[in-house]
Amino acid sequence: MVCWGLVCALAAAGLLIYLIIQLAIWLRADSDLTVLAAEWWGKKPEKELPGKVVWVTGASSGIGEEMAYQLAKIGSPLALLARRENELERVKKKCIEISSLTDKDILIVPLDLTDRSAHEAATKTVLKHFGKIDVLVNNGGRSQRSLYVDTSVDVYKAIMELNYIGTISLTKYVLDHMIQRKQGKILTISSVMGIMGAPLATGYCASKHALQGFFNSLRPELTDYPGISIINICPGPVQSQIIQNVFTEDIAKANANVGDQSHKMETGRCVRLTLISMANDIKEAWISDHPYLAVCYLWQYTPTWAWWLLNRLGKKRIENFKRGEDADISYYKKSS
Ligand SMILES: NC(=O)c1ccc[n+]([C@@H]2O[C@H](COP(=O)([O-])OP(=O)(O)OC[C@H]3O[C@@H](n4cnc5c(N)ncnc54)[C@H](OP(=O)(O)O)[C@@H]3O)[C@@H](O)[C@H]2O)c1
Repeated sequence: MVCWGLVCALAAAGLLIYLIIQLAIWLRADSDLTVLAAEWWGKKPEKELPGKVVWVTGASSGIGEEMAYQLAKIGSPLALLARRENELERVKKKCIEISSLTDKDILIVPLDLTDRSAHEAATKTVLKHFGKIDVLVNNGGRSQRSLYVDTSVDVYKAIMELNYIGTISLTKYVLDHMIQRKQGKILTISSVMGIMGAPLATGYCASKHALQGFFNSLRPELTDYPGISIINICPGPVQSQIIQNVFTEDIAKANANVGDQSHKMETGRCVRLTLISMANDIKEAWISDHPYLAVCYLWQYTPTWAWWLLNRLGKKRIENFKRGEDADISYYKKSS
């Protein structure tokens, strides 16, 4: 005879254990659960990406540079775009040193993303060299550290020109080619700030929200091309040159407050999870440590709580910045 009391007790205990495991995984997670699952059970970049021609913008430092190295090791021919040709040469040299790629497998494309008149010719150059583009990685961009009340509107225009207009302009020419081939991936490095808001980055957040809105609307325009994927990556704070290169309140003013960056996610980890998202065609990936990851979930599911929390975290962010430290330092360790 079935003892229903025992069955119910076992089911409840099973559910509780399952929830505790989920919570433990989530607390230790550095990405959303879709990316986490893909890392364990999904397609491996090492199987999916060898031989795929990848065009990486912003490849001269930070996330783009590390992506060039990881893709080179996997065996993906590369086109590398940024403004600083000498830095691209350095990245190319290292790619050749650490992989089986040769000189002809890596094309350098020195270009300012805001120079839209050059985008069509640059795309033709890459196509002439490789014959195809399998993946476009829209990574080039700059962040911001300044309060809105202090900031010139010219800065807002420049951020949008680079992060948003520059990106969708290049995408247009590459997408034409992918539509002809009926295949390809357009992966854009957005940010957790494409999902949530954050003080000191009003213009940057706006540009990343614009990218999210654009690519989430482009995706359903491409339903006749199931071989083309639109992938948005939303990293939280990652180690790179981003703080050195931020826009400030004035177009001509460089950022004087860089501060310690060691509390941020390692570049290699962010890029690895990005490549997993690329291999598995994940439409939107949140790649971040807490508390940003937690705020993403709150922002998505309970925005009122997220706004409440951000008012508190945001205040701290502004205080850190005004003290000359990294704006996010206090979530991770005590400020000096
Ligand atoms: N690091 C983070 O915490 C973080 C978090 C979320 C999202 N992201 C995003 O990740 C992407 C890469 O940033 P990162 O962190 O790796 O910063 P980074 O080290 O400063 O790299 C930025 C790259 O963009 C290029 N770039 C800047 N302006 C350009 C222009 N006008 N034309 C062409 N290329 C340009 C830079 O090259 P040149 O100077 O040689 O042109 C550089 O290669 C950005 O879109 C950023 O918004 C970063």
